[in-house]
Amino acid sequence: MKPPSAEKPDYGNWVATKFIYIPGATGLFFLGLAIIFPFLIVVAALFLFVALYFAYARYLFSPQGADLQEKIRGLVLSSLDWDGEGQILDIGCGSAALTIALAQKYQGARIVGIDYWGKQWEYSKKLCEKNAEIAGVADRVTFLQASAAALPFADNSFDAVVSNLVFHEVGGVKDKKDLIREALRVTGKGGKFVFQDLFLWKQIYGEPDALMETIKSWGMTKSAFINTGDSTFIPALLKLPFMLGTIGTIAGEK
Ligand SMILES: C[S@@+](CC[C@H](N)C(=O)[O-])C[C@H]1O[C@@H](n2cnc3c(N)ncnc32)[C@H](O)[C@@H]1O
Repeated sequence: MKPPSAEKPDYGNWVATKFIYIPGATGLFFLGLAIIFPFLIVVAALFLFVALYFAYARYLFSPQGADLQEKIRGLVLSSLDWDGEGQILDIGCGSAALTIALAQKYQGARIVGIDYWGKQWEYSKKLCEKNAEIAGVADRVTFLQASAAALPFADNSFDAVVSNLVFHEVGGVKDKKDLIREALRVTGKGGKFVFQDLFLWKQIYGEPDALMETIKSWGMTKSAFINTGDSTFIPALLKLPFMLGTIGTIAGEK
C-alpha cells in the first residue's frame, strides 16, 4: 500500500450547487419583477428560501460544516459485521469516499466500486481513481461504470456488498426493491451486506416490516433494519423525508 499523499481527496457534496444557484437566481429574478408586481415578492421569498435551505444543507454535509456525509457513511461501516477476507462491492460509489474508507478499514480486502456517474452528479470514475491514489489504496481498489439495476457480475461474486443512498436515485426501475434483490444476487452465500437508503419512504419501499419480510423471503440467513434517520447527529431541519428523515440501513447475511 502506498503512503497517503499530503493532498486531500475530494469527496464532493450530495447537494449539487445547482440546487442553490437555480432557485437563488429564480428568486432574484422574481424579486426584480416584484418592483412592478409587488405580489411576486411571495414567489421570490419562496425560491430564496429553497436556495438558502440547500446552501445550509450543503454546508452541513461538508467537512467544513458538520461533516454529515462522513458520519452517514460511518453508519454503513459500523453496521458491517465482516471479517475483511476477500472482495467487497460498493454499489453507487459516487466519489469513492465509502470505497476508500472500506479499503482503509479492511487492509487485506479488495474493493470494487461501481457507479453510473450520470451528469446530475459532480462525480466521475477519474475522480474516484484520483481519490484512491491520494488515499494510498489504489492498488486494492477497482472502479467500474455500471448500473445498480444490472450489475455486471455473476451470482454470489462478493464476500460483502454495501451501498449508501443510491437505490432511490436509480432511474428507470419501477420497484426499487429490485435493486436490493440485484445487490443480494451478487452477494455470496454467507456474505455480509449493508444497504442504507430512504427505506422509510413508504411511497418508494412500502411498509418497513413488509420490506424486511420480502428480503427474508429471498433466503437471507439474517437481516435487520435500523432507523438511522433517528441518529442524534442529524439536525432537525435535515430530517425532511427527501433529505435524511427517512433513511435506514438493512444489514445482514445471505
Ligand atoms: C447520494 S450519492 C451517494 C454516493 C456514495 N454512495 C456516497 O456515499 O457518497 C448517489 C449516487 O448514486 C449514483 N447512481 C445513480 N443512479 C445510479 C445507477 N443506476 N447505478 C449506479 N449508481 C447510480 C450516483 O451517480 C451517485 O454517485
